[in-house]
Amino acid sequence: MALRQIREVGDELLRKKSRPVEVVDDKIRQLMDDMYETMKHADDGVGIAAPQVGVLKRVIVIDLGEEGDGRVYKLVNPQIIKQKGEQVCREGCLSVPGVTGDVVRPKEVVVEALDENGKKVKIKATDLLAICLSHEIDHLDGVLFIDKATKIYDSDEDSEGDND
Ligand code: NI
Repeated sequence: MALRQIREVGDELLRKKSRPVEVVDDKIRQLMDDMYETMKHADDGVGIAAPQVGVLKRVIVIDLGEEGDGRVYKLVNPQIIKQKGEQVCREGCLSVPGVTGDVVRPKEVVVEALDENGKKVKIKATDLLAICLSHEIDHLDGVLFIDKATKIYDSDEDSEGDND
C-alpha cells in the first residue's frame, strides 16, 4: 500500500466525470488499498473517491469507523438505484480543507456496485452511511459538497463533522 496525494478544490480533475471500471483487477484493488490508506492517514476521513487521488475511475472507499457497522466498503461503479427521505448533515471533505457545510442528502439509499472481487453487491444504507455514499458518488460526477451546501462554515468556527 502507498499513500497518494489528495487533490484539493481548485484542481480541475476533481470536476471531471469518472469512467466506469471494466474489469476489477489487481490494479483496481491496489488503488482501493492505497485510497484506504490515504484516507486513514488523513484526519477524520471516513470516505474517499478515486478522483480525490487523481484517478478518474468510478471507485470509492468508505469506513465509518466507530460510527459505522465495522465494515469497510470498497466499491466499484456504485450507483444509487433508490433513495428515500431527506436529512441534513454537517459535512466536510478531504479535498476541501478547512470548510464544512450543511448538505441535504437522502435519508435512505439503495446502492448497486461491484465489490473488490468484481461481485455484484446491493447495499441498503441509512443515516451516516447513506450520506457518505451519496457524497462519494457525487465525487465521481465532479460534484463537491460545497456545490450543494445550504450553509458553509469555516473550520475555526467549529471543527465537528467528518471528512468524506
Ligand atoms: Ni469528499
